Order: sequence, then structure tokens, then C-alpha cells
Amino acid sequence: MWGAGEPGAQGDLPAAGTAGREAMTALIRVPVRTAGTQYEVVVGPGALGELASLIPDGARRAAVVTQEAVGVTVETGLDQERMVIPGGEVAKKLGTVEDLCRRFARFGLTRKDVVVALGGGVVTDVGGFAASVYHRGIACVNVATTLLGQVDAAIGGKTGVNLPEGKNLVGSFWQPAGVVCDTEVLASLPAGEMRSGLGEVAKYAFIGAPGLEELSLPEQVARCVSLKAAVVGEDERETSGRRAILNYGHTLGHALEADALARAAGPVEAAGGVLRHGEAVAAGLVFAARLAFRLGRIDTDRVAYHDRVVASYGLAEHLPPLGDPERLVAYMAGDKKVAGGGLSFVLDGPSGVELVGGIDPVLVTETLAELAREMRSRA
Ligand code: GLY
Repeated sequence: MWGAGEPGAQGDLPAAGTAGREAMTALIRVPVRTAGTQYEVVVGPGALGELASLIPDGARRAAVVTQEAVGVTVETGLDQERMVIPGGEVAKKLGTVEDLCRRFARFGLTRKDVVVALGGGVVTDVGGFAASVYHRGIACVNVATTLLGQVDAAIGGKTGVNLPEGKNLVGSFWQPAGVVCDTEVLASLPAGEMRSGLGEVAKYAFIGAPGLEELSLPEQVARCVSLKAAVVGEDERETSGRRAILNYGHTLGHALEADALARAAGPVEAAGGVLRHGEAVAAGLVFAARLAFRLGRIDTDRVAYHDRVVASYGLAEHLPPLGDPERLVAYMAGDKKVAGGGLSFVLDGPSGVELVGGIDPVLVTETLAELAREMRSRA
């Protein structure tokens, strides 16, 4: 077993390609420690069997929040009820939270009971948020069934829903009581969903976990979780800027997603091609490299390294078209992560990836136009 050291201590993480072979089959337990709590993320094939052990003592009932498409069942050992929310991102709204809380009440869920959020990022965001406000907060255990959920969304306590005015505008920091990342369930994930998760995995190569592609899938997931646990342990509420590094590639990624949504005026799928979060993040990574280069923060070799990592996950041929640079810059200026004066990006540089403010929007527009030309010439 590895990855069970102090969060923040990179030395506790296995070096790429040298992880103990027993980790290929053994479950990996990664601790997450914040100022107020501590919990375990159990990673590996068959981790679902550990769910009951993560449920807090004293719980008698479990509300299992899920989506129809998830197709995974769980056994909590408690009196449990399955509560299905609508499919897709559309479920991330306050109405779903009200519906869930009313169902919790009708089921007789008390303060000592537990919500089990079983699904991808939408389910853990909504289920976690409902748990955080029901009875002013009850325990929630996340069972992440997508790669994106396992390496990012289910870990670290960010929960929330969207408003028509923007994504994730209402939410809470509510750390789960435990997280299950059963890598066996990923075998049935559609290729596009897997690719979307790989966009987030690729991000970790630049923020402290290079060489992941040499590891087995459970090892990759565990290493991403270990790194995220370390960052969350240092900056749970994103106040010091440290946690912002987890959003590497996301400023453009979110702008692309918002733009696709607006153009579709409905589900992104209607925009003439599915725009998945991880694919948008992958575009954000190659863009961020070019912006960092223009700012003199990194050299051409490092830009090429970004391209190689993105390509190694099969994402290079799935980068979404960029569209109008000025419209994208307008979205970036409205993103809560860049609000507060000028454009801010998480960028690579001599001291690693960090939040950089005060970036000239004209430079951003030019860099976007250059990348768009480059992508067209490669197509
Ligand atoms: N997904 C970024 C974070 O949890 O901070």
C-alpha cells in the first residue's frame, strides 16, 4: 500500500513507474486531512466492498442519491433508499436539492444518518450539497463512478449547483465522510466519458505528478487523489491561492463550456458535437502553455511537453474548436475564478504552476487566435 503518508509530503507518493507491484491488486487508502476533519479515499478494483466501513458509526439509514445512467448498485448494510435525480448537468440546480431534501425528510433521515452520492461529478456535487444543508449538515459518502469523479470531483469537499447566471454559483465546502473510487466500475464507462476524465488526469502532470501514464489505472487514480489531498489539506477553502492550481487549464476550459452551452441554448450535445469537461480542459492546458510562453514564463520545450502529455492521453485529436477569441475572453472575464481585476490564469513558470494576475486581454486574444490557427493547420 502506498499514498498513506502525510498530505503535502510529495516524498510519500510513489515515483512514476516504481510503485509497488502489490498496488496493482491491493486497495490503496489515501487520507485527506483538513483543519476540521479527516477521511479516507479507498482506491482500486473492488473498493465498493469498503463502502460500509466508511459510513459513520450510529447511522441507521442511507439515502443513495444517483442517476439512472450510473448503473452501479451499492450495499450500505443500513436501511437504504435509492433516490434518482435527473440525468446530466441539468440536475445541478436548486430545485433538485429541494426535491432531495424533501425525500430525505419523507424517508426519515436524521442528523446521524448518511447520504451516499453514487455517480459522477453531478451526483457528488448535488448530493454533497443537499447533505450539507439538510438538518444543517449530515454525513455524505461519495462513491465516484467516473474517472473525472475519482480524480477530482468527489475529493476535497466542493459541492454545489448552477444558477442560470453561472456554474457552481451556489454551494458549500462540505468534506465527505469517505470516498470510494472503485476502478473496476470504470471498465463500463463510455469512451468519451473516460476521455473526459483523462483531461483531468493530464492536468496532474503539470502540478506535481508527471509520468502518470506509466502507472496502472488504480495507481494513476490514487496518485491524483494523493496530490489533490495534499493541496486541499493546505488550502481547503481556496484562500491562499494554492488550491487554484487544481484549476490548471480550466479558465479556457470553462469559457469553452459556457460558450458551447450558450450557443446550444440547451444541452451541450445540441451544439453539434459533445463538449466534455476534460476535453475542454485539455484545450485549456495547451492554451495555457502558449500563454505562459508568450509571457516568458516557459520555453518551447515545455510547451512541447504540454502537447505531448495531452497527446499521450489521446486528447490531441479531440480538442474542441476554439471559436471567436473575443467571445471567449469575455467569458473568462466573467468567470468567478478570474474576477477581481484584470485577467488571471493558472500558469506554468519557473516556480511551477501558480495563479498569475494582471494579464493583458489583448495578449490572451492573440494567443487564442494563434492556437486556433495552429489547430486548423493540423486538422
Ligand atoms: N476541482 C477543483 C477543486 O476541487 O478545487
